[in-house]
Amino acid sequence: MTKLEIKQELEDIQKVAKINEGKNLKYSILTMGCQQNENDSEKLSGIIENMGYTKTENLSESDLIIFNTCCVRENAEDRLFGKLGEVKKYKEEKGTIIAIGGCMMQEKHIVEKLKESYPFFDIVFGTHTLHKFPTDLLKVLNNTKRIEDILDIDGEIIEGLPIKRNDTIKASVTIMNGCNNFCSYCIVPYVRGRERSRQPKDILEEIKGLAKEGYKEITLLGQNVNSYLRVEREKNIPLEEYEGVNSFSTLLRAINKIEGIERIRFISPHPKDFTNDVIEAIRDCNKVCKLIHLPLQSGSSNILKVMNRKYTKEQYLSLVEKMKATIPNVTFSTDIIVGFPGETEEDFAETLDVVRKVNFEQVYMFIYSRRVGTPGDKMENQIPEEVKHKRFNELKELVEGQISVRNKQYVGSNQFVLIEGKSKTNSQMLTGRTDSNKVVVLEGPEDLIGKMVNLRIISEHMWYLKGKVV
Ligand code: 5AD
Ligand code: SF4
Repeated sequence: MTKLEIKQELEDIQKVAKINEGKNLKYSILTMGCQQNENDSEKLSGIIENMGYTKTENLSESDLIIFNTCCVRENAEDRLFGKLGEVKKYKEEKGTIIAIGGCMMQEKHIVEKLKESYPFFDIVFGTHTLHKFPTDLLKVLNNTKRIEDILDIDGEIIEGLPIKRNDTIKASVTIMNGCNNFCSYCIVPYVRGRERSRQPKDILEEIKGLAKEGYKEITLLGQNVNSYLRVEREKNIPLEEYEGVNSFSTLLRAINKIEGIERIRFISPHPKDFTNDVIEAIRDCNKVCKLIHLPLQSGSSNILKVMNRKYTKEQYLSLVEKMKATIPNVTFSTDIIVGFPGETEEDFAETLDVVRKVNFEQVYMFIYSRRVGTPGDKMENQIPEEVKHKRFNELKELVEGQISVRNKQYVGSNQFVLIEGKSKTNSQMLTGRTDSNKVVVLEGPEDLIGKMVNLRIISEHMWYLKGKVV
């Protein structure tokens, strides 16, 4: 858990700011992928705004365009290449600086493709070199040479970078980086490196600062969030304990005590790391939301084994039962992949069986996507596209049926809702979320924004509920 000195980077921020002074420059940032990437983009925005750029959504007026890429599934690649085709004209017309960063840049074949087909970019940077963006940009401004700044080894934990957050009520806080699990379909361990956790003190101070600024909801982020500090403990790496924090459960308990914070969420956990102490901490901490994300991936024990998930269908279901027995009002969300190599109709039926049994609040469904460099990509028994789509639709139908039944059960109930802001589709309405992460819209005065409000649910729609202040 060594921390990197970022003196040079902070100095380079000042140098770029000086070059940019008085120029009224604009930037846009396009973020693809998960919340971790959203959080990285907030850090990039913090750095970039300190260098004298202001944000715009309009690519044509941007002097700097940053792509923060994802590579978990193939469709993100298609999106990047499509967008690059679009911004080429801005580079040609006004010399817009184009920077491409994030997970996809850790893949050598992608960087090669960029150089071959989109050679007009100025900077590529990876997941371990985000903090060096000011230094890279300074080099481009000084001699306009193309920069490739990608590290294959794991990056260190960086503290002390500026950050520009997108929201004023909800904030995400990265607590650990990387993944050691190597699920056989997943590219993440290859592009985000090995697990490493932030120091408890740095996390708690960040969250206390957010509470002072008025943030109400904290989402703890990590590719394997509930294995926080596990590697450090196993390897006996000296730990600076702070407020009793030496594990994920003690971290939840410490954050629960922070005044001003009303809600704590965390993503994405792994079922194998839901040890009893974590389950008990969720039960005991009143601010920790009782919606637990429990990625299933497949309901078939055979497929789970090939996926290297380290649990069987039965173990997953008994974990769900244990949580239901321990945590009052617990609900679940999950991730499911259909069409993993070798998935038979019987395997898929097992997945449907788990979905029926658990009755998830929310299911994020994915069609298996081959990722270069993963064991799954080398498997010979790939599933034909039409079979994958057929299974996906079948799963979707089951899930939507369950959700519409659940939605009806909400009607007439009272729910505590954190009001997040005005509705994006109707500015006369406010919007917020229940503990179980359901969107609720309501009529009400703007000063409810940022408050926890007790609402009566008066009607239900597929993707949101309607509520009334009680
Ligand atoms: N294909 C499809 N879905 C994937 N996921 C990860 N890798 C792949 C892949 N190759 C899904 C998993 C994971 C979520 C973030 O993305 O369900 O939990
Ligand atoms: Fe990917 Fe599995 Fe790690 Fe999650 S736990 S990031 S699915 S390898």
